Formats: sequence, structure tokens, C-alpha cells
Amino acid sequence: MSFKTFMIGLIATFGVPLLLLVVVPHAVLKSVDPLEFTEKDDGREGIYVPKRPGRIEDGAAVYAAEGCYICHTQLIRPTFAGSDVWRPDWAGLAPTVDQPVDTRRETNIFDYRGEDFAQIGLTRTGPDLSNVGLRVDRYAAETGLTPENWLYWHLWDARAKPATYWSVCPSYPQLFKTVPDYGQAGAGLPLDAPDGKMVVPSDRGRAIVSYLLSLKKNDQVPYSINYRRNKKRASEQ
Ligand code: HEC
Repeated sequence: MSFKTFMIGLIATFGVPLLLLVVVPHAVLKSVDPLEFTEKDDGREGIYVPKRPGRIEDGAAVYAAEGCYICHTQLIRPTFAGSDVWRPDWAGLAPTVDQPVDTRRETNIFDYRGEDFAQIGLTRTGPDLSNVGLRVDRYAAETGLTPENWLYWHLWDARAKPATYWSVCPSYPQLFKTVPDYGQAGAGLPLDAPDGKMVVPSDRGRAIVSYLLSLKKNDQVPYSINYRRNKKRASEQ
């Protein structure tokens, strides 16, 4: 083999995948225009500003390190590829009298804003977490806990809830610490702890819970990326 053939082979082997897997996708994502609402399609004007309060970057790092993505996806597929959009509380909110905007949609790149990696997930052993923040608000209201405490309860022992006694969602005691109980009001969680002690979330625990609560699909997105194409409803308003 001549040196020239070797070099052509080397460039083809590494250059083509680099071009297709890194350079082209990067350029495509960089060129995404700011998205605007239009009166005609969305019933309002303005630029779409995705909002996502919470400890996104820290929380995403804990989510990755603990391997949540092995069993949980964060990917709402388009309607031609699955029924995710129609599953209750998965893709967003169905319209109601109090909340007439239909926020159900497939995943778009803004849903991963603030994260280093898009945690699309490996398997669906557990439910998709794209909209888990809104579901947790509901579970919390049903159980009388705060949304944060509901999640701590779940991460401490998913089998403690009678409805999911069968759960295979692992326990994550490494996200908590047991400290002496000096009667610090409100700091302890409703979790089993030895006498004179109480369980409190560690900093990593707080970060992941803040991250999970940021996973909400409750804002209106422009018609151009709302794949439900809910034109009729906007023009009715
Ligand atoms: C071995 C697979 C597995 C892993 C790993 C896993 N989960 Fe789960 N998870 C499940 C299953 C199955 C369920 C459904 C049963 C239930 O609600 O407990 C679930 C449920 C949940 C729910 C409740 C969702 C809902 O809408 O009811 C949350 C929140 C959750 N997991 C968070 C996490 C987080 C955060 C991690 C990583 C720290 C994680 N899970 C890792 C399997 C897993």
C-alpha cells in the first residue's frame, strides 16, 4: 500500500464520521433561528423564550452519574413513531377549562436547554420523565407532601408507596445523609431513621430533585415546533 492510499484511507475512516456525526449536526443546531409566535397560528405574537428554573446542570450530572437514563427516557416521539404524545401527562397538558392551551408536543432541542448532554435514555423500563415535574405536583397534592418531599420519598424507597410496592426503581440512599435530630423544624423528611436521627437530602440529592422538578411541559410553544399542529384551537381563541 502506498503512502497516498494509506492517507486517503485514514481520512475516509476518521474524517467522514467526524463530518457526519459532529460537524454537520453542530452546524445544523447552531443555525436554529429564534422561534416566534404568530398571531395566525398561535393566537399571540412574540419570541419563544424557553423557561426552565432549577439546578439543571448539577442535577443533570447526578442524573447521569446515578444511571437514571438506563431505565428512563426523556424523549416524546412524534405521533408517527409512537403514542407518547397521547399518554396522559407524558408530553404536556391536555387543554381544560382552566388551562385552555394544549401544551402536548414531541421533544424539541429546547427541552434540554442548560444540559451538557440530552438524556434521551436507553430503555423504557420506567416511565418517560419529560414531564415528571407536573406529575409529581399532582402526586404531591394527592399525598399532602411537597413535590420535593414526594421525590425524596420515591428516591429513598420507591416501594414504600402502596401503589408501587412492585417498583424496580432502585433506592438511592447515597443521595441522603443521616444526621442527629436536634429538633430542627421542618428539616427532616418523612423517611425512616433510627431514634434520635433524621434523614436529610445531601447536596447531590437536592440537585437531582430540583432538576426533576424542572422537567415540565406546561408552556405554549410556537406552532412551528408544536407537532400536534393545534392550529384549530389557536384560531378559535
Ligand atoms: C432499574 C430501572 C430504573 C432505574 C435505574 C431508575 N428507575 Fe425510576 N422508575 C423505574 C420504574 C420501573 C418506575 C415505575 C414504578 C414506580 O413509579 O416506582 C420508576 C419510576 C420513577 C419515578 C416516578 C415516575 C412517575 O411518573 O410515576 C421517578 C420520579 C423516577 N423513577 C426517578 C428516577 C431517578 C431520578 C432515577 C435515577 C436516580 C431512577 N428513577 C432510576 C425504574 C428505574
